[in-house]
Amino acid sequence: ATPLRVALLGCGVVGSEVARLLTQQAVDLQARVGRPLELVGIAVRRGNRPRPGIDPALFTTDAEALAARPDVDLVIEVIGGIEPARSLILTALGHGASVVTANKALLAEDGATLFAAAARAEADLYFEAAVAGAIPIIRPLRESLVGDEITSVIGIVNGTTNFILDKMDTDGAGFGDTLTEAQELGYAEADPTADVEGFDAAAKAAILASLAFHSRVTAADVYREGITEVSSSDIASAKAIGCVVKLLAICQLSDAADDADRTVSVRVHPAMIPRSHPLAGVGGAYNAVFVESRSAGRLMFYGPGAGGSPTASAVLGDLVTVARNRVRGAVGPGESSYAARAIASIGHV
Ligand code: HSE
Repeated sequence: ATPLRVALLGCGVVGSEVARLLTQQAVDLQARVGRPLELVGIAVRRGNRPRPGIDPALFTTDAEALAARPDVDLVIEVIGGIEPARSLILTALGHGASVVTANKALLAEDGATLFAAAARAEADLYFEAAVAGAIPIIRPLRESLVGDEITSVIGIVNGTTNFILDKMDTDGAGFGDTLTEAQELGYAEADPTADVEGFDAAAKAAILASLAFHSRVTAADVYREGITEVSSSDIASAKAIGCVVKLLAICQLSDAADDADRTVSVRVHPAMIPRSHPLAGVGGAYNAVFVESRSAGRLMFYGPGAGGSPTASAVLGDLVTVARNRVRGAVGPGESSYAARAIASIGHV
């Protein structure tokens, strides 16, 4: 069978794992898709850095040319940040390639542009890896629960800050050392300010709220407070009253008979929660997301929220899905998952 050609943009913690798995699991992936997946190029910033297990002949420093290759069917973007990621994704969609991205910052800032481009191209744009690493949460919101009415989504969606708060709580560790450890383990963003100041969690909250409430919430709509002001004495005080400090993302849809009277509130901030609460037990770089909906009731999604391998699992899941769609000449839910709802206001209260 003719292979589907795959271009990989970015070869950091996540990208290098994706590249390795594409080679190691080639036979199984082919069986699941029905056609081989052929990795034809990897865009890197510096071509001469050794990356074990990856064929160096695949490296190119010309990401734009790789994304523009007309023979490429599927493009994976794991560079992160707004530019050049946005231009590269638009280039890929522009010639009809389907795109898999882990880029929460971009989706939360300018998802509308990407979805419009995907719709024009009749191509897929999948992003399971953008929120909560390996945990399937995007697909449940876009597909499994789309017939229900979701009223709230509350979660721990940043692995780095959870790792830091957990260490401060259990080992009495200091903030700086623990951040360095989280960076070494591949949990933190390239610029860890995004983690510790809550920008990363706010982007994820915007994406979750958009999908859950069928509205368009951007990062700018989210109230944001990070963990840099959380001191060891705050953690000790929480402990003394049977609580633990967690960085929470809280997305709520107000109750009203009419959509026009409803409000969406989205915020990210440290919160004290009782040790008996299920979120209190989420340790290390794990994430958890609680979803509450009218018919299903309460659901909890839990698992590894950051790191190369868990995030690569989500990327490959999307890759197989968009590859299958391509083989069948179909596309996934696209923009309809954001179907604009006439909500009275979006912001935080
Ligand atoms: N820096 C992110 C985190 C990576 O710590 O959760 C996963 O999105």
